[in-house]
Amino acid sequence: MAGTDGLCYWFNRGWLEFTGRTMEQELGNGWTEGVYPQDFQPCVDKYLKHFEAREEFLLEYRLRRSDGQYRWILDSGTPVFDLEGQFLGYNGVCFDIHERKESENVHNEGLQFSLMMHTVTVAMNLSEMRDPYTAGHERRVAEIAVAISAELGFDVSRQQGIRVAGNLHDIGKINIPAEILSKPSKLTDIEYSLVKFHAQASYDVLQHVAFPWPIAEVAFQHHERLDGTGYPRGLKGEEIIMEARILAVADTVEAMSSHRPYRAGLGIEKALAEIERGQDIIYDGTVVDACLKLFRQNGYNIPLSYS
Ligand SMILES: [Fe+2]
Ligand SMILES: [Fe+2]
Repeated sequence: MAGTDGLCYWFNRGWLEFTGRTMEQELGNGWTEGVYPQDFQPCVDKYLKHFEAREEFLLEYRLRRSDGQYRWILDSGTPVFDLEGQFLGYNGVCFDIHERKESENVHNEGLQFSLMMHTVTVAMNLSEMRDPYTAGHERRVAEIAVAISAELGFDVSRQQGIRVAGNLHDIGKINIPAEILSKPSKLTDIEYSLVKFHAQASYDVLQHVAFPWPIAEVAFQHHERLDGTGYPRGLKGEEIIMEARILAVADTVEAMSSHRPYRAGLGIEKALAEIERGQDIIYDGTVVDACLKLFRQNGYNIPLSYS
């Protein structure tokens, strides 16, 4: 219970047993010591606003229990008046709503994740509309890269990051004139340098998105090669993050085995021979091993539904 000055002057036994503190410790503003630091200011602001207006309030905050665990609390405050309408203070009742709140948070995170994945799909569809000759390339690269990362023992969250990176790695191609993308003959040097710029362009577009994975960096590095012969920065070995090394292999396998405007698909065996030839020179050795194992031993096929 709080008086007209907003300070608490009494707590029931339930509160004291919950917090494991004494009445003396809790009196006045003492109880706020148990409020989770991040929840403190929003609670105080809301409390003072309603207190001034003599309105009922509902606060949700985390409060430290006697065992040290912070629990979500619903704090319901009601102003108290005497028979003449004189304001006497507030009566507060608290409920432990921890389980409900936690499941709500899990639900919200799930919702946010699915919204993010839908947005990724929209971005991917837009870039593929522009470049019908390579439509499906990013999806197939994502599928192969996820399969490699699973083979390498990556956890589910990291595999999801690889999927998103695969789905968006060439998004910067939206910057390249369509005639160049669909040109059926060899590119001139100038045209090729325009094509090469797509890694930087992908990075520029993606760097502002707060993904829980290094998506922009993976896109930036997916044409880098272990020996430094890649682009755009000529990174070497360990300078290239693992996700980008996986994408480099998946990208090569997909691009070589699929049809291109300037040539028919070369088939999976030629693509595998190419990464084998570049193993430990331009492609990460463990990634190549995982990829070869997938196709040659596990009977993996690039999903046709994405063609
Ligand atoms: Fe690319
Ligand atoms: Fe690609």
